[in-house]
Amino acid sequence: MKKPEPLVEILATGRYLPDQVVTNDDLAQRMETSDEWIRTRTGIRARRIAPDGVNTAHLGAGAARKAMEKADVEPGEVDVIVLCTSTPDHWMPATACETQALLGCTNAWAFDVMAACSGFLYGMSVAEGYLAAGRGEIALVIAAEKMSSIINWNDRSTCVLFGDGAGAAVLRRANGSGRGIVASHMRSDGRLSNLLCRPAGGAAEPISQGILEQARHLVHMEGREVFKNAVRSMAEACDFALQQAGLTAGDVDLLVPHQANIRIIEATAKYANLPMDKVFVNVDRYGNMSSASVPVGLDEADEQGRIGAGSHVLTVAFGAGLTWGAMVLRY
Ligand code: COA
Repeated sequence: MKKPEPLVEILATGRYLPDQVVTNDDLAQRMETSDEWIRTRTGIRARRIAPDGVNTAHLGAGAARKAMEKADVEPGEVDVIVLCTSTPDHWMPATACETQALLGCTNAWAFDVMAACSGFLYGMSVAEGYLAAGRGEIALVIAAEKMSSIINWNDRSTCVLFGDGAGAAVLRRANGSGRGIVASHMRSDGRLSNLLCRPAGGAAEPISQGILEQARHLVHMEGREVFKNAVRSMAEACDFALQQAGLTAGDVDLLVPHQANIRIIEATAKYANLPMDKVFVNVDRYGNMSSASVPVGLDEADEQGRIGAGSHVLTVAFGAGLTWGAMVLRY
């Protein structure tokens, strides 16, 4: 099978993590939990929490500035900003526009993509299509999440899992270098939307005192069901993306999976036939940063020299929607 030629390449990535580290022991002082419970079930040891006043747009702009600096791209050169988030700063306007203002990308158009933890891969796909159609030269894909603002701090089964952070990538229309997005496979299944959601507070059931009292505007999750679906869907997405790329597990230099839970990561790696030394893990330090997990992982892996010229990187993600997807990148 002829290997597909990338239409879009990644010029650079960047990340921004708030300074404040909150460990499992810190949480155990505030609620009925323990480091042992959290670590053994999830692999998480700590997460970052953004302070009041540091919003999703600030996190996103922080990551984007680093990516643009590395890519040597000026704000005025960006044609489109795709901002992926489950934690928009406002219901209106899009956080992408607020981020655009912070960055000074005055020649771009900007919009949000909401696909929860799969957001970055969805955003990359959207930007790829836009650039490949010849509508622009440079795209900024940002994944920014202030999960601490939407989790229920009284629900120990979910609040210990998440953290704040942002990652970004600068994309350019490919010029025949062979680097870039080689293949992708995206899916969703809205029939399972109730497994992981914020049940109320949107247009279907606008915010009210009752909703606030019952905390139904915050994240609700059926952990076990989500777990099962995550493993199945991520495994399937890896298969499809690799097949489309004309590659096998043996060709993959690094798997950068969504960082929800070390047990989900290990099960995905096992299914994909990849040893753990070819899997990037930072869930221990940051917890689940939703859409930001994959780009932060890509950026750290690159910085640590785990990705080099010619590397094949498989990324895979899963989240509320349900949404899932995988992408094969050549560096
Ligand atoms: N600390 C201590 N005990 C806790 C706890 C916490 N933070 N959270 C839940 N528990 C308790 C529960 O109350 C329950 O107690 P009970 O048996 O007395 O009722 C017990 O621990 C077992 O809970 P359970 O939910 O069955 O545990 P689990 O083995 O399924 O693990 C998750 C829970 C959340 C770690 C696991 O389901 C999971 O990782 N799911 C996927 C979540 C995810 O990653 N979602 C995002 C996808 S993008």
